[in-house]
Amino acid sequence: MVVTGASDSPAAELHGGPSPAQRAVVWHDLECGGYRVDLPAWLELAERAGGPVLDVGAGTGRVSLALALAGHAVTAVDRDQALLDALAQRAAGLHVETVCADARMLDLPTRDYALCVMPMQTVQLLGGAEGRVAFLSGARAHVRAGGLVACAILGDVEPFDCSGRSVGPTPERGCVDRFEYVSRAIRVGQSRRTVSIERERWIVEKPGAARRSDVDIERDVIELDRVSVAMLRRDARAAGLHVEPVVTVAATDEHVSSSVVVMRV
Ligand SMILES: C[S@@+](CC[C@H](N)C(=O)[O-])C[C@H]1O[C@@H](n2cnc3c(N)ncnc32)[C@H](O)[C@@H]1O
Repeated sequence: MVVTGASDSPAAELHGGPSPAQRAVVWHDLECGGYRVDLPAWLELAERAGGPVLDVGAGTGRVSLALALAGHAVTAVDRDQALLDALAQRAAGLHVETVCADARMLDLPTRDYALCVMPMQTVQLLGGAEGRVAFLSGARAHVRAGGLVACAILGDVEPFDCSGRSVGPTPERGCVDRFEYVSRAIRVGQSRRTVSIERERWIVEKPGAARRSDVDIERDVIELDRVSVAMLRRDARAAGLHVEPVVTVAATDEHVSSSVVVMRV
């Protein structure tokens, strides 16, 4: 994991620890950055569609950077400026521009993208069908006729609860400056409409408190809308898009499978 500029912030100097923006970047890198198995799907779609590519919900640039390194011009959109700042630093020398905006209110000067992608279940974070249709309508307005829009959705999850126990998925760990960051998934729950993923996160200063009882543990809960391929295709039609065959991304030891729903303008 690479985090640039981690010790430059006045907040870090003032409190002797990482600032909220630095933490946001590191947690994002730890919890999303290691996922690689979907990258061939996005690269193949970009080859098929050509460029430029609009990556919405780009985070610190896991997919944007892979596309840019393959030679595609990328516009990376996210609503979190701290993540985009890290992305912009990492993209130095590559053809990547960043835009801080909400995916449901896209209004960019370029309306000629060949491909718009939304990887890693971000489409399940848009506040239900209304938010998804708003995003897909905006994507359609920004992609040229015949171009593609593609969104990943989570496959079947297996609920578990290992809160309060030390067993469970192996924590993700990363060191930045003199701090070690640890993130551990402790619960995955499912209701008729949502999937919730709960994590414990803690930061230890090295060398220092190594036992969890010595540190403040933060709980982070993400609520995803449950979205099937059929639901997303219905949203796509409501947004005026045509559906194409789905691309399947296989499960790994750490991640469930996902489906990339492909749509044509
Ligand atoms: C699961 S992460 C995926 C990051 C990156 N695309 C990847 O695949 O590694 C979801 C990202 O979507 C962003 N996001 C969530 N809701 C958004 C919205 N309404 N508009 C723009 N970005 C959003 C978050 O800030 C976060 O960076």
